[in-house]
Amino acid sequence: MSTHQQRHPQTLTAFARDTLQGLSGIPKKLSSKYFYDEQGDKLFQQIMRMPEYYLTDCELEIFENRKEAILQAIGRRHFQLLELGAGDGMKTKVLLRHFLERGVNFQYQPIDISRNVLLELEESLRSELPDLQVKSLQGDYFKVLHELRGNKAQPKVVLFLGANIGNYTLEEALAFLRSIATELNPGDLLLIGFDLKKDPETILSAYNDPAGITAAFNLNLLHRMNRELGANFDLQGFKHWETYNPLTGEAKSYIVSLKGQYVFIRALNRSFYFDAWEAIDVELSRKYSIPELEHLAEQAGFAVRQHFFDKNNYFVDSLWMVK
Ligand code: AVJ
Repeated sequence: MSTHQQRHPQTLTAFARDTLQGLSGIPKKLSSKYFYDEQGDKLFQQIMRMPEYYLTDCELEIFENRKEAILQAIGRRHFQLLELGAGDGMKTKVLLRHFLERGVNFQYQPIDISRNVLLELEESLRSELPDLQVKSLQGDYFKVLHELRGNKAQPKVVLFLGANIGNYTLEEALAFLRSIATELNPGDLLLIGFDLKKDPETILSAYNDPAGITAAFNLNLLHRMNRELGANFDLQGFKHWETYNPLTGEAKSYIVSLKGQYVFIRALNRSFYFDAWEAIDVELSRKYSIPELEHLAEQAGFAVRQHFFDKNNYFVDSLWMVK
């Protein structure tokens, strides 16, 4: 990262630009997509191993128990398998291994914005599943999907797992899914993971663990601004706060300022004032009911083929077809 002062918006990084916009607004807001730097990736790995964070275990259970049913519902023996935001592929490997064992003819194409994530994934796949055809694609989801569009002969199955859709508002989710439908052909499939509405206590605990891992994960955003933007956030001056609204299904994370304080951000060459108890909106993790997600599918141009649930009905991986 450059350490010189940047005054001209066009020379700012996307992170700096979004920070400037987010901290200038009322209320203050930062995007959870910036959680995932190297430190954030590590903390998220820890979150996935916490007993309170049921989402990962549920999806893994679905894949382990329903991998053959998922393959049957896909109903094809030859396809391109694309994954949006592949991460470490821990859960996906269960499906990949099963498809290989069943002699399915497919190529796995993980798509991620992070080249580092893709390199690590490729390496682990080479050693764990040497027979798998992998072609990773680095870049923005839609750009990559758009570039693959010409490939009409190849039926596509797209994976969007882990309830990543939950980070979008309803409007954003609809726009996102419509764009995916547009970049695919009729008959192509999407397997998408949603976290479902359930006991509010269970949901709140998943984002409010007593060990404070989620708090560290969220507050890493302040660390990251210190590291990359030359900010001087005092981490002792802020706390993590979580809410869950059972009506809207919105689990929301905030970073709350414990006192009135100024923070200087060198990359933006300006200070921002935080009032005592002022909150920054940092993450949305939306929970859905089945009728809500079926409505979303319909509106985005998909037909719902089948739902795959874990034994508690906490989570669903839903298979949709482009109409
Ligand atoms: C990776 C977006 C699915 O919202 O549950 C976990 C991120 N945030 N704990 C989620 C997260 C706090 C996670 N997603």
